[in-house]
Amino acid sequence: MAVGKLPRRPVSAWHGVESLDVKNQSLPVPGTDSTNFRYNSPMNRLFEVTRDGFIISTDPARLNFDVVHGYLQRSYWSPGVPRGVVERAATNSLCFGVYTGEDQVGYARVITDFTAIAYLADVFVLESYQGRGLGKWLVQTMLAHPELQFVRKWMLFTRDAHGLYEQFGFTRIPNVENRSLERRAAEPWPDPLPFDPDPALSKAEP
Ligand SMILES: CC(C)(COP(=O)(O)OP(=O)(O)OC[C@H]1O[C@@H](n2cnc3c(N)ncnc32)[C@H](O)[C@@H]1OP(=O)(O)O)[C@@H](O)C(=O)NCCC(=O)NCCS
Repeated sequence: MAVGKLPRRPVSAWHGVESLDVKNQSLPVPGTDSTNFRYNSPMNRLFEVTRDGFIISTDPARLNFDVVHGYLQRSYWSPGVPRGVVERAATNSLCFGVYTGEDQVGYARVITDFTAIAYLADVFVLESYQGRGLGKWLVQTMLAHPELQFVRKWMLFTRDAHGLYEQFGFTRIPNVENRSLERRAAEPWPDPLPFDPDPALSKAEP
């Protein structure tokens, strides 16, 4: 059985767990072992739609992080975001890339448990492709994903694109300040350590 280690951060750097008995150990890699309950995760399935020479795909292998990170680091919501953060976020999200031929021209990701909540994040279409319906098609496609049909609540934050999402049933939350809480990290972008598989563990026998 192939196993890998979780990326590590010194336990002392974790808020509030210094005095606890912390277990931080390797688990089987999802998707490689049918006894793992994540083996059948919807995250592992491919969903693609095509239209007018464009394709929207959830294939993580197609993602071009030069494009995705290139856009997000100059976006208004995540200026200067490190590439490691963008890649780690994508690894743990259901990502939708928009492509024409080999070129990626759009991106969005869904953070979800496929039941209670789906949070839309990092939605963009490259400037030279904006205004021709790709953004609407991207939102429509995410909402149509077969594995997201059981989601109870979709959420997102946006500064000015409310009109895009309102076309697909999103509504503004009244009195949001009375109902929402948040907890921010001390650093603006805690940059994750690179994934560091343990060679001894990855050679372990089943
Ligand atoms: C927002 C964005 C993804 C839309 O994609 P797009 O391909 O340019 O948009 P489309 O051609 O599909 O049309 C978008 C629709 O939403 C509407 N809309 C409302 N607010 C908008 C906004 N801030 N930006 C773009 N469109 C907006 C448009 O009027 C249009 O509706 P209409 O066709 O009925 O007039 C794209 O413009 C973009 O990447 N913008 C910069 C990044 C951004 O703001 N992302 C959203 C963060 S939540």
